[in-house]
Amino acid sequence: MGRTRLQHRCSACQSLSARWTGRCPGCGEWNTLVAEAPVVTTVGGPGHRRPIPGGAGQAGTGPLPLCEVDPARSLPMPTGLGELDRVLGGGLVPGSATLLGGEPGVGKSTLLLQVLWALAGTGARVLLVSAEESAHQVRLRAERLGPPPPGLLVLETTDVTALPPALAGADPALVVVDSIQAVCDPGAPGIPGSLGQVRACADLLVHLAKAHEVPLVLVGHVTKDGTLAGPRTLEHLVDTVLTVEGDRHHALRTVRAAKHRFGPTGELGLFEMGDTGLSAVTDPYRLLLGDRRAGATGSAVLPAVQGQRALLVEVQALSAPGVPDSPSRRSAQGVDGGRLALLLAVLEQRAGVPLARTDVFASAVGGIRVAEPAADLALALAVASSVTDRPLPPDLVAFGEVGLGGEIRQVPHAPRRLAEAARVGFRRALVPGACPDPPAGMAVVRARTLAQAVALATA
Ligand code: TYD
Ligand code: MG
Repeated sequence: MGRTRLQHRCSACQSLSARWTGRCPGCGEWNTLVAEAPVVTTVGGPGHRRPIPGGAGQAGTGPLPLCEVDPARSLPMPTGLGELDRVLGGGLVPGSATLLGGEPGVGKSTLLLQVLWALAGTGARVLLVSAEESAHQVRLRAERLGPPPPGLLVLETTDVTALPPALAGADPALVVVDSIQAVCDPGAPGIPGSLGQVRACADLLVHLAKAHEVPLVLVGHVTKDGTLAGPRTLEHLVDTVLTVEGDRHHALRTVRAAKHRFGPTGELGLFEMGDTGLSAVTDPYRLLLGDRRAGATGSAVLPAVQGQRALLVEVQALSAPGVPDSPSRRSAQGVDGGRLALLLAVLEQRAGVPLARTDVFASAVGGIRVAEPAADLALALAVASSVTDRPLPPDLVAFGEVGLGGEIRQVPHAPRRLAEAARVGFRRALVPGACPDPPAGMAVVRARTLAQAVALATA
């Protein structure tokens, strides 16, 4: 039985590859592979090897010395979106499955359309399986980006069994299924979006991607509490789980890896949603601190670290007298609610900041989320500043973990935090006692306890 397959020739070294990859396996050049006239291959014929799930196409030969396994076959393929590649540690790995989760409307379809666009723009053929929007709607959305490259194929279907023939025919370099809740497998029980359907469809798609050695991205909608059937239960089926987050009222969108079989999970991708889709945020400072009112009470600046990157985040707190005879209200947005409660107790018990019968609202500005313990000190100082009605010095940043005893503990990456704060013009940093010396132009004030830090910062 013969079937038609495209082959790809490297414009630099002329070597041939069955699959399109971002990097030529022959010479290592990027974006040099160009699709050529189809050749007929014989399934099961001489030289044919059935790829194993997750394998590099060398199955069927029995055990192999590991050194003979070709590492170049599973090199990540850059997506064309640098911020996404940062999160993925280079790009999407052929044969891998990625789940892109996020609340409805956050920008998942937009992000993936841009990835498809970027790859098709390099001459690759890519496939969008659109189960939620008609091909016409996708085209309308795409209008904002310009005329679509010819290699961007769209298949409007909700039936996953339409995919095996579509993949065999198109031999794409990337497949996106939008969304996993909207497709169904007629052979499986349940309605689309039900747990059984979502699992059955994902299983079929993941195996299909491995058999074709093509990277697969599944879109999954998640509600705020993560209860919708699907995405959470799919996490073990896929290699990578990415989440897109953002506040509907802010332009900032963040992408993180919650699970990543091929690289680190700590990186943060930053995008800004605008009229022409998502663009990389090259200057987070403008987006995160651009509207800051220096000298306002209840505001502290934290040099946060996310993966390899340090970025400055404004942490705000507002305290107000509570309603008599009802419990104090606490609200946390972009910061951890449990951590806020703990810091309020430490502020009251160890630093003498009166918080009884006081409502406290705290947030990280700009739609970003800070979860690291290093944020403790800035958050506690923002609360103390609001309660005492004294602003912190406008050129001050603060970082450090706060212990239950009211002590301020060291946190990782202090030099990187100080360097970024100095780069954007901050001159002072309130830091844990054992913090290393700061870069030129920056002074550190070391504090061993939260009481000391509050006294120093609100003097
Ligand atoms: P979308 O990608 O459809 O979200 P999801 O697939 O996660 O449900 O994004 C929808 C939102 O993004 C919608 O509110 C409109 C907005 N948007 C822009 O602001 N600019 C754009 O260029 C595009 C395409 C969408
Ligand atoms: Mg969508």
